[in-house]
Amino acid sequence: MSAPNKSYDPVEVEALKPEEIERMRDEALAAFAAAGDLDELAHAKTAHTGGTSPLALANREIGALPPQAKAEAGKRVGQARGAVNKAFAERLAQLEAERDERVLVEEAVDVTLPYDRVPAGARHPLTTLMDRIADIFTAMGYEVAEGPEVEAEWFNFDALNFTPDHPARQMQDTFFVRGPEGVEGDESGVVLRTHTSPVQARALLERREPPVYIVCPGRVYRTDELDATHTPVFHQVELLAVDEGLTMADLKGTIDHMVKSLFGDDVTTRLRPNFFPFTEPSAEMDMQCYVCRGASVGNPDRPCRTCSSEGWIELGGCGMVNPKVLTACGVDPEKYSGFAFGFGIERMLMFRHNVEDMRDMVEGDVRFTRPFGMEI
Ligand code: FA5
Repeated sequence: MSAPNKSYDPVEVEALKPEEIERMRDEALAAFAAAGDLDELAHAKTAHTGGTSPLALANREIGALPPQAKAEAGKRVGQARGAVNKAFAERLAQLEAERDERVLVEEAVDVTLPYDRVPAGARHPLTTLMDRIADIFTAMGYEVAEGPEVEAEWFNFDALNFTPDHPARQMQDTFFVRGPEGVEGDESGVVLRTHTSPVQARALLERREPPVYIVCPGRVYRTDELDATHTPVFHQVELLAVDEGLTMADLKGTIDHMVKSLFGDDVTTRLRPNFFPFTEPSAEMDMQCYVCRGASVGNPDRPCRTCSSEGWIELGGCGMVNPKVLTACGVDPEKYSGFAFGFGIERMLMFRHNVEDMRDMVEGDVRFTRPFGMEI
């Protein structure tokens, strides 16, 4: 601010010259008019009415004028500021009205849209595949059976001839909901079932008298880390047949039928010896690779991603129901025999549809499920 003086003509103060004040006012009006939206207007307001704006600085110069000059200069600056404030208020009202109109259009709710229709979702490919497999067996006369996912340790292990010290019973492999200790009169703990095989025991105990033909698709749990080929929560399909005179040949024929139904008539299967406490004899079941049909084996010119050039794809476990299991479930092993198999659905989905990472199945991204179609 200039120093006070006694003989002072405001016209001599550059910032207070009438044409200067007019220029400041006109610049402010032009800036408000040019502001295209409320943000730009707010910037223009700060620039032309704020504490460091030309008009505010000119206003401060008035204080330094001699008393006789103050009134005229004050009137001139005051009128300019009044005009600026008025122009700002008008432009503000105008821009706010435009904004409100735009919001009403952009955020309009179309009340004529049908309120009771939501887009149909797709079923997860795991569900579709499990249902398809269950359909193959229900068409053969099998019944779909279910069991609890929170299962008695007895059904999950003891009834299936797992010894008390079997490694699968340890906490590293199995999610225990409750240990057997501390529950008076109850020898069995409670686990998240580690396979669908306990449904075998439940079905036999519930029905007692064979013939029993059941297929059981369901969710199972193991303390495996989530990675490209494992998940702690996965799905299996279990098959159990108990009747008079069933043999390994029936087991092999049933596996063949399932594989041909899913992968084509010319795909063959094989059994490899294995061990499961609840089947005797037990086997690992493989199907011929339905992509290369074995042509990739020993043939580096024709590698196969589906079977890693092994020619065979591992499906799961199988075998003849152990007579000890039949006895534990009240079925006479002298009269009846049975076969069972179980396999993982995630793994089957992987090789059937070339899914490279199991994590894609559990992350819930619709970009994974969408290509499988909208089957409902
Ligand atoms: C069993 O679970 C037996 N109950 C199968 C069985 C049934 C044998 C009836 C005999 C008679 P196994 O532990 O091998 O077997 O598991 C079967 C399949 O589950 C495996 O072949 C694999 O495909 C799948 N699987 C196992 N662990 C995982 C996992 N962490 N994530 C995804 N799939 C898995």
